Amino acid sequence: MSEIYALDQYVEDLRRITRETDNEDEIISRVGPLAQRLAIEKDWLQQKHYEADAEHGFGVHLLHEEPDHTLAVFVVSAARSWRSPHDHGTWAVVAGVERVERNIHYSRVDDGSRPDYAELEVKHDFNADAGELICMKTGGIHAVRNETDCITLSLHTYGKHVNYTERSQFDLETKENKDFILQVE
Ligand SMILES: [Fe+2]
Repeated sequence: MSEIYALDQYVEDLRRITRETDNEDEIISRVGPLAQRLAIEKDWLQQKHYEADAEHGFGVHLLHEEPDHTLAVFVVSAARSWRSPHDHGTWAVVAGVERVERNIHYSRVDDGSRPDYAELEVKHDFNADAGELICMKTGGIHAVRNETDCITLSLHTYGKHVNYTERSQFDLETKENKDFILQVE
């Protein structure tokens, strides 16, 4: 039987891949299968990772980041909740760990000329199950909904810790575009 793929090995692979290329398409296509494997084998998983913030309905738990905040890996738990449309300011590879989350991906349809304003249009609306991947290049916008009463878990890998990138959260009604900082456990 092959060895379990551990978090340390994943981080080594992330370092090697991002040393070898800065092309986001290539990074995502190489990181994706590794993230899937880590998400399925989950020897990194601890009971505390299921905890979700009562106010927002989700919990963000840091597994790894480099000293310069690059190569950040999180496990995100979510109770029934809606995570508003947002971008990440970097590339993102998300792998489902436990249960199904609805992902809604958006295109920006305004011309970007007005600060703090954005018009979004739904591009793709789908359910992502455990073991499935959601990948976005810098600028990709999505929202995530847990429509069940079960806690979901997903494994998120970003080119840079998202609290150190310039990124936004979008309000679909007011069309406001605001800074977005996560509370990380
Ligand atoms: Fe996201």
